[in-house]
Amino acid sequence: MSIVKLGVIGLGNMGQVHCKLVSGITDFKLTAVADTRPGRSERIHNRYDVTAFDSGDALIKSGTCNAILIATPHYDHTHLGCLALRQGCHLMIEKPISVDKRDALRLVNAHGNPDQVFAAMFNQRTHPAYQQLRQWIQAETFGSVRRVQWTITDWFRSQAYYDSGDWRATWVGEGGGVLLNQCPHQLDLICWLFGLPISLYSQCSFGKYHHLEVEDEVTCLLNFDNDVTGVFTTTTGEAPGINRLEIAFDDGLVVYNSQENFITVIRNDKSVTRAIAENAAFEKPGTTQELVPVDGDGGQHGAILENFAGAILRGEPLIAPASEGLRSVELANAMLLSGWTQKAVSLPISARGYRQRLLDKIKRSTFERKVKATVVENMADSF
Ligand SMILES: NC(=O)c1ccc[n+]([C@@H]2O[C@H](COP(=O)([O-])OP(=O)(O)OC[C@H]3O[C@@H](n4cnc5c(N)ncnc54)[C@H](O)[C@@H]3O)[C@@H](O)[C@H]2O)c1
Repeated sequence: MSIVKLGVIGLGNMGQVHCKLVSGITDFKLTAVADTRPGRSERIHNRYDVTAFDSGDALIKSGTCNAILIATPHYDHTHLGCLALRQGCHLMIEKPISVDKRDALRLVNAHGNPDQVFAAMFNQRTHPAYQQLRQWIQAETFGSVRRVQWTITDWFRSQAYYDSGDWRATWVGEGGGVLLNQCPHQLDLICWLFGLPISLYSQCSFGKYHHLEVEDEVTCLLNFDNDVTGVFTTTTGEAPGINRLEIAFDDGLVVYNSQENFITVIRNDKSVTRAIAENAAFEKPGTTQELVPVDGDGGQHGAILENFAGAILRGEPLIAPASEGLRSVELANAMLLSGWTQKAVSLPISARGYRQRLLDKIKRSTFERKVKATVVENMADSF
């Protein structure tokens, strides 16, 4: 194969960005597009001279493409993804890979053929700041991680945003709020940098700042292996908000604020472990400060797409294998579960138990949507 014949399913905000990006990447030929909304795929067909379909199923079954990119609302990821994999296509799936652990497992388990490339759009993994942090953590450059705090409150969204699509911000349409839509990136990065927590306790506020039923503010206490603790805070109801990741290591403190083009590194002249054992009563370790430059954004969506094509055509290792997307779904589900029950939750969670609670939320919802009956039927079928 010398070129990847790509079909894009879902031509809203993100799908249209992907069409534009792949048209500029020589490894791809944008071959087909699909959207269930009347007129949408025809418009893209006219712009890029591609075959237009009025459903993702029809595009996948047409055999016109050897790779598929799915950028539909979340609940459709599982069904369309499983179909594309069964059809033998390489697959790129938007985040979150599915709404709940049960669907995420179905999707990941549908990928049995190692020659099929299955990737997820975790574009923030390409960012040089997170790549640098990961390299320091893995190399133990500053000793072991002791504590983590991520405040990601710059996801401001107005009511008009939530009202812009009938799938947004309901249990039945989106399967959650800020944890399922905006934060899959940070939840993925948490797992990529520190691993999946072993337990957590979260306080979730539902419709605190917007007229909606899902969570628009979350504060979560995290416990990782090796006694590492963490706090994760997010909301779509704050402005200007901040995106600040603070990591306390044995040998110092590292802070990345996304507004800055550097990482602040404060290095101790003695590890905290040694200072606690050896120093006088109030004698802190001495410190030196360094600002480590962060250059650019790493290419983001374009870089993930290039990597997808490189994996198909040249066997390049994936930046974000879709199977790893299971962890951020599990983490989001666990945070919601803890918020609903107001109890600490141990991970891994029960996929079946979470599905049951989500179904109950959907059934009891007063935010009616046309799709409700079908989604409940499909979810009940896939138990
Ligand atoms: N990686 C990122 O940075 C990023 C950013 C925004 C959105 N996203 C993700 O992209 C996906 C789409 O989000 P969006 O903001 O573009 O949504 P959107 O509502 O703007 O677009 C979704 C499109 O999918 C179409 N659609 C719905 N069901 C379909 C089906 N079964 N088959 C074919 N088309 C269907 C809709 O008609 C619509 O045109 C979501 O998973 C979202 O989380 C990712």
